[in-house]
Amino acid sequence: MSVVGCGYLGAVHAACMATLGHDVVGIDTDKAKIDALQSGDAPFFEPGLPELLEEALATGRLAFSSDVSDVRGAEVHFICVGTPQLPNEIAADLTFVDASVEALLPHLAPGDLVVGKSTVPVGTAERLTTLSDEADTGALLAWNPEFLREGHAVKDTLHPDRLVYGVPAGIEGDRAVKLLDEVYSATMADGTPRLVTDLATAQLVKVAANSFLATKISFINAMAELCEATGADVTLLADAIGHDDRIGRKFLNAGLGFGGGCLPKDIRAFMARAGELGVDQTLAFLRDVDAINTRRRERMVELAREEVGGSIDGLRVAVLGAAFKPNSDDIRDSPALDVAEQMRAQGADVVVTDPQALENARTAYPELSFADSALEAATGADLVLLLTEWADYLTLDPVQLGEAVRQRRIFDGRLALDPVVWREAGWVYRSLGRP
Ligand code: UGA
Repeated sequence: MSVVGCGYLGAVHAACMATLGHDVVGIDTDKAKIDALQSGDAPFFEPGLPELLEEALATGRLAFSSDVSDVRGAEVHFICVGTPQLPNEIAADLTFVDASVEALLPHLAPGDLVVGKSTVPVGTAERLTTLSDEADTGALLAWNPEFLREGHAVKDTLHPDRLVYGVPAGIEGDRAVKLLDEVYSATMADGTPRLVTDLATAQLVKVAANSFLATKISFINAMAELCEATGADVTLLADAIGHDDRIGRKFLNAGLGFGGGCLPKDIRAFMARAGELGVDQTLAFLRDVDAINTRRRERMVELAREEVGGSIDGLRVAVLGAAFKPNSDDIRDSPALDVAEQMRAQGADVVVTDPQALENARTAYPELSFADSALEAATGADLVLLLTEWADYLTLDPVQLGEAVRQRRIFDGRLALDPVVWREAGWVYRSLGRP
């Protein structure tokens, strides 16, 4: 098989498929990335990926190339390229999906199966099928959305919750299902549920899932706003409603809200697509989901200002965390960096630290300052902000950190610290949605 696009999704998919016994070539236009992968270096931080790459390359079943003609001979071709938000628009940019399919077309053989994994607006698969038919490739197209989470990508790929195959009707669809069953035979042997749908449903499943997750987070963050207005505690509220297993406690962690390369742009692209389909009212609630999420970042800055009597100008602020979530070096739409940048813009001297994302953060935010450790970032600080809940930060010693800072003020943007422990060590502890 071939895997076109070797980013957070494709590199993991390619390596996992090779360890499951398939012969895999990973394709990417970024030569430096291909060289790194071919020599067993993961080009981004993902727990377990370096070991997996090493194991897969050693079998001789995995190779990487920047020459798309190397897909020849593969029967199944996965499209794993990004679909970021268009600049100044809420819709998704499909340039990379379109370019990868167009690059594949001349190399497809009759009966080959092209499988989309990228998150796309519904209707994209149908449009790509037409492209392939017009080029008379004789290839089939299916959509097999991916649900992996960064930071858990290897496990999520090898042991997914479910497999979804969106296939065309009739014998073509039957053939696509048969090929995909071969691809995932080891996964299915574990009892993973597999759902076969039409193409439109499969494309919608992915955006529906991400929209639901985003809604769940913004729901609890809306409750956090109410808790702030009433002196209630959103963590206890989440625990209490989460015991109802129709609601569930997962994805009810209030705080700075969601970021990353997926949830924010997916809900926006979904709204844009609904507008094109003439059903924009249907997803109007996602505007609020997005707005609640953005407000949490602003509230964090406001909370800091409130605590210091109105202005953070000239204060030294230590920001713990730059990645959009722990166990990732991904800083796309990172709530932590957004807050850091807002505070810098208001005159604070902001020093950011992160166990894995410093290099990416430095490149994207050259005007911020950076430190290699939490202790270094906090030295001389007037405010310490915990904005990404890396395990390292949860075990920080408030007494030791208290000796390094100028003022013992900690703002917990992820509701991840124990307020009692920090207060006992003489800190002012404040968080979103907790008294
Ligand atoms: C998300 C989905 O969870 C995956 O299923 C999906 O495959 C992926 O997008 C994708 O479309 O590729 P990911 O972006 O890796 O995965 O991250 P999540 O674990 O979903 O976290 C997203 C954001 O929500 C993070 O910023 C996290 O800090 C925040 N979050 C998560 C909360 O604020 N509260 C929670 O309770 C959970």
